This record gives sequence, structure tokens and C-alpha cells, in this order.
Amino acid sequence: MKTSKRLKGIGEYYFSQKLREIDALNKAGKNIINLGIGSPDLPPHPDVIKTLQEESAKPTVHAYQGYKGSPVLRKAISDWYKKWYNVELNPDTEVLPLIGSKEGIMHICMTYIDKGDEVLVPNPGYPTYQSAVKLAGGKCVDYKLSEKNNYEPDFDKLEKRGLKKVKLMFVNYPQMPTGQLPSKKLFEKLLDFGKKHRILIIHDNPYSFILNNEPMSLLSIDGAKDCVIELNSLSKSHNMAGWRVGMLCGAKERIEEVLRFKSNMDSGMFLPVQLAAAKALTLEKEWHDEVNAVYKERRKKVFELLDLLGCSYSKEQAGMFVWAKIPEGYKDGYVLSDEVLYKSNVFITPGGIFGKAGNDYVRVSLCAPVSTFEEAISRIKNAK
Ligand SMILES: Cc1ncc(COP(=O)(O)O)c(C=O)c1O
Repeated sequence: MKTSKRLKGIGEYYFSQKLREIDALNKAGKNIINLGIGSPDLPPHPDVIKTLQEESAKPTVHAYQGYKGSPVLRKAISDWYKKWYNVELNPDTEVLPLIGSKEGIMHICMTYIDKGDEVLVPNPGYPTYQSAVKLAGGKCVDYKLSEKNNYEPDFDKLEKRGLKKVKLMFVNYPQMPTGQLPSKKLFEKLLDFGKKHRILIIHDNPYSFILNNEPMSLLSIDGAKDCVIELNSLSKSHNMAGWRVGMLCGAKERIEEVLRFKSNMDSGMFLPVQLAAAKALTLEKEWHDEVNAVYKERRKKVFELLDLLGCSYSKEQAGMFVWAKIPEGYKDGYVLSDEVLYKSNVFITPGGIFGKAGNDYVRVSLCAPVSTFEEAISRIKNAK
């Protein structure tokens, strides 16, 4: 069957392809250690699971839900934003629960992009920004993030290029894959840039609770609602990636605009999932500290593994990965990744899948127990 023109240039998601290759190696008896994908292996808080169990046993919770999400979840999101980010959001009008933040990226593109509109996307960055823009008929304009510029956009360069056709800009701090933290100054610059050029800034913020003492929201900067939509997610912060709960926050008008598209795509989330997510959002700092203590221990092992491979990296990264520069002598991260896969039966992600600017890097996930990292280290040592 001939596929639509809009699918032209949209490949299968890298991980879905690579997982097939890893699967084939496993079937051939290789027992690959996968340190690629960022899917939390730790469980959510027991009270979250209890809420889901208790609520789903009730006879009255199985119907379709409202398109704007349960008022309980919207209130919990608003309270969470106030408590952690010091951002005021009206739960009735400025919050939209999502089935994971990934779908929000698509909804935003479908809501705002017409054919020929340009969208600024980070390179390296989360690949879904690119595909969503293309699927919506827009044109991606990469902006390069480099280590020497603290992985911040070069605003002067973008202005010199001309921004007349640019409608949206995707940004993401703590940045995936580089682990770069935001600063208030960077957030202020982003806001000025958005206002000056009438660009809607889409801040994707799923990593602010992981290995980061100060969660920040772009919406905390004065006047941000004029030109910012923020996406957030419980996938990483609350170990709920498979539950599919995210949120879109911003001005009332933006919520209404996105809802015009989204309400035609799905019919709300299972109510017990929403109520359990609301419970998760009330968790205290102690819980997040416990989760982060586990990630810290794992990160020490990842540093050890990267040292063995001769990679260099910053120890100041946030999020659930370590981003590391490959040593001299390798053409790119793909070569190093394949070498480690085929010699040591360990998979680490080549940085190039996040954009050309990531070619000289690899990314290692923290989503595996310490014993798995120890096994990976020993396999790499033995293969040397
Ligand atoms: C930068 C970034 N944004 C968004 C997502 C999607 O998260 P969710 O599970 O909320 O759809 C991911 C997931 O890997 C991500 O890395």
C-alpha cells in the first residue's frame, strides 16, 4: 500500500529498529545488556499503585472521561507547579493533562504549524520534535547546541539567519541528551527572544526532578505565559513511563487552541490512572531524594564504564543519562556503540541519533541496577 506523502522522510523510530537488532542478538544467545533507552526501572510510590487498584475496583470509573482531564488531576498539577516551580496555574483553564508529553509535541505541531512554517529544533535533541514538525507539514530549522556554549542556543546567529517564517521553537532543559541544566538567565533570554520575534516557545521539561536539586519551569519567568507552552511528564519524575501521564501548561487561549486538535484525537484517560497520577504529584521531597540516591550510585558506575571506554564527560549533568564525548580514533559514536555491542554485548546509544551535533558522543542510560552496570563493566574489561 502506498503510504501518505507526509510519511516521506519519517523513518521508524531509531530505538524500535535497534531493539529488533538487539532482540535478534539475544535470540542468538548473546544476552545483551541494554543501556540505551531511558525507561525508569524503579516502581512508582506504593500509594500510587494502591490508588490505581482501589479506584479501578469501583463500578463508576469506567466511562469516558472529559477531554480536559479530571478536575482532581488538574488541581493536583496546579498545586504541584506552585509547590515545586512557584508557578501559578489556574487548574480550570491553564492546565491540560496529556497521555504522556510525547503526544503533546504532536498536538502542538498540528495546532500551530501550516505548510512552510519553520520550527526551531535543538541539535542534538529529542528526535520526536523533528518528526512531529515534519508530520505537521512544517520545516525544521536546527539550532546547534555545543559544549563550548553550555548547550545554549546561539541567539545572535539565529537572528542573523532571519526568523520571519519561524512560528515555534522547541527547547528542553534539563536538556536531553546533553544533561545541561537551565539557568534563570537562559530562561530570560529565551523569553525575550520569543517575545521579540513572536515565536511560541515550547519548553519540554520532563527531567527537572532527576539528579537536579532545583526543578525550574520556564513559566516561572515573569510574563512567560505570553509566549510559552510548557510540557511536563510523570514518566521520569515519578517512575510512571508506561502509565502515559503528562501535561501541557500555559495561557488559557493556548490550552483552548491545543484542545481543538486533541479533543479530536482521544477521549481522555482512564480515571483511576488520573487519580493515581494526582496522588503521585503530592509526593514529598524525601521520595524524590530516595530515587535520586539510587541514580547517583548508578551514575558512579556509568562514569567508571565511560572511563574504561576512554570517553570524557561533565559530572554536572541532570536527567537519567550520562552524555559523553568519544575518544580520538573513533569516526563517530555509532562506531563506538557498535564496537561495544558486538564485542561486549552491551548497548549504549550513539549520540548521532539526536542530531549531527551529537555525532562525537554516546549516551548511557541510568535505568538499570548497579549490578547490571558492574556486569557491563566486567564485559568491557574482558573484551579489551
Ligand atoms: C526530552 C523528552 N521529551 C519527552 C519525552 C516523552 O516523555 P513521555 O513519556 O511523557 O511521553 C521524552 C522521553 O524519552 C524525552 O526524553
